[in-house]
Amino acid sequence: MLRQAFLYLSNQQNIFRFVRNNRFAKRLAQRFVAGETLEEAIRAVDPLNKKGITASLDLLGESVHTEREAQAATREILTMLDRINERRVQANVSLKLTQMGLDISEELCVALMHDVVGRARDLRTFIRIDMEDSTYTERTLRLFEDRLHPSYGDHVGIVLQSYLYRTLADVERAIAIKARVRLCKGAYKEPATVAYPEKADVDANYVRCMHKLLSEGNYPALATHDDRIIKEAIRYVRANGIGADRFEFQMLYGVRRDLQDRLVRDGWRVRVYVPFGTQWYPYLMRRLAERPSNIAFITGNVIREMIGR
Ligand code: FDA
Repeated sequence: MLRQAFLYLSNQQNIFRFVRNNRFAKRLAQRFVAGETLEEAIRAVDPLNKKGITASLDLLGESVHTEREAQAATREILTMLDRINERRVQANVSLKLTQMGLDISEELCVALMHDVVGRARDLRTFIRIDMEDSTYTERTLRLFEDRLHPSYGDHVGIVLQSYLYRTLADVERAIAIKARVRLCKGAYKEPATVAYPEKADVDANYVRCMHKLLSEGNYPALATHDDRIIKEAIRYVRANGIGADRFEFQMLYGVRRDLQDRLVRDGWRVRVYVPFGTQWYPYLMRRLAERPSNIAFITGNVIREMIGR
């Protein structure tokens, strides 16, 4: 019920305009968002890198509506790639195709993606295309497979979501073309016609897809904070002689930092997804939807900070 409410709120841009400059809301966002500027994001990555944790920087922003906005996002992402390289930050970049103009025109989106992935290839780094709601799944995968992956190979990868019925078949397809996959559960509000309504089924499908990717995939990224699934991944790779350099765990900035630290101390690769930018509202709502108790937790912390503890 609360999950549905937060997912509904994540699409309400008029509410964002209202909270955008609200100090309290901004403090709430700080738990999950590394700041509004690239400089702040790079500062947030530094302590992670010092612990041996890599990052994927994400300039928040989705569903742009004009060509100018898509071009502005592209310029900012190119700057991100350059700064990461100049400062030798251990990070790659995640982005969304709607941020690159997919809703305006596919040709525009492909042209801008060529700029971005071309730069990533020149700098020997990597662009991850986040997966959005299911109305974009097919278009995203087609665009990746037909127009980007053939030219850029391992410099670009996709995300597959275990809540979708189609995902096991998409995993098999990705394995066949040697595409790099991040596997997650999925963060959007989806109808039962396309996605498992029961969490137990989403989790079981995650494990099925994860086993396949670990055995046959191209450096899969296991994006989850789920203790049971992480334990199963470790059991599976040990049982099958799969080295720690053949995959990585991924988690979100501000979520289960204890687990991130523990995994890296135990010798596993961990990458943290570090979002930043002014468009933090839909992202924050999706994080609250995953765990509504966050609202009480973060509110408590913010109030303690405000009264000086
Ligand atoms: P689950 O929701 O079952 O949570 C397991 C446990 O993790 C919880 O019990 C809690 O302890 C902890 N936890 C999970 N979420 C939390 C939160 N917000 N706050 C505090 N604790 C939390 N989705 C998508 O649709 N497209 C995408 O491209 C991506 N990309 C992506 C990248 C990375 C690196 C991650 C980690 C996740 C994504 N996601 C995503 C989001 C993903 O689909 C999913 O919504 C969240 O990761 C939560 O699912 P878990 O697998 O963590 O399991």
